[in-house]
Amino acid sequence: MKKIIITIDGPAASGKGRIAKYVAKEYNFIHIDSGLLYRKIAKLLIDKKTDLKKSNQVKQILIKNNNFSLRDNNNLRNEHIGRASSIIAKMNFVRNHVNKQQILLTEQKTNKKGFVIDGRDIGSVVFKNADLKLFIDVNPNVRAKRRHKQLIDLGEKSIYAKILKEIKLRDKQDIIRLNSPLVVPKGAHIIDNSKSFNKTLIKINHLIGQIT
Ligand code: DC
Repeated sequence: MKKIIITIDGPAASGKGRIAKYVAKEYNFIHIDSGLLYRKIAKLLIDKKTDLKKSNQVKQILIKNNNFSLRDNNNLRNEHIGRASSIIAKMNFVRNHVNKQQILLTEQKTNKKGFVIDGRDIGSVVFKNADLKLFIDVNPNVRAKRRHKQLIDLGEKSIYAKILKEIKLRDKQDIIRLNSPLVVPKGAHIIDNSKSFNKTLIKINHLIGQIT
């Protein structure tokens, strides 16, 4: 039976990951966090002391490592890795590599009902024919407050003004890049996630109810 594909795109710290986790649990889907795949590559490059400006060095590391698990880890969630992943996400060959991984993951045999994939270009580039496309929208100040709290909860040092600046910078990098910039995908439903999470879930459940 054909598996359902739901895409969730949106800017950094918009809550798309939390929504994707909810959908996976509630509807028995596999969750693919594409940002995590970029973060894993960024961490690997940093660990190997690769010069991110030298595409040849980045390519060499990618060729040798093409098996990235979906396992999350708190040490991938800091701003240093976030910044580096935003830089490597501009490179065409890195994007192709990550996109291929995502498609392979959705071709695996599973008894789950489908896949929920979150990122920046999932509904616009990687899964253009998805059954449902969502775009999560939240004002940068609200996102910065949430990210700040998340980092403090993880035991990291965080200054709100710095986080807000980082978020705005990352938005800019994600929106103006030539390869797969962050856009509202064609046919996507825009979900305002700046109020309570429960309100967001009501909208999401309603939309999923129409395709399942
Ligand atoms: O969602 P995140 O913060 O974990 O993503 C980390 C970085 O990866 C983000 O700055 C941009 C990039 N990314 C991307 O370009 N395309 C995706 N589909 C997912 C993430």
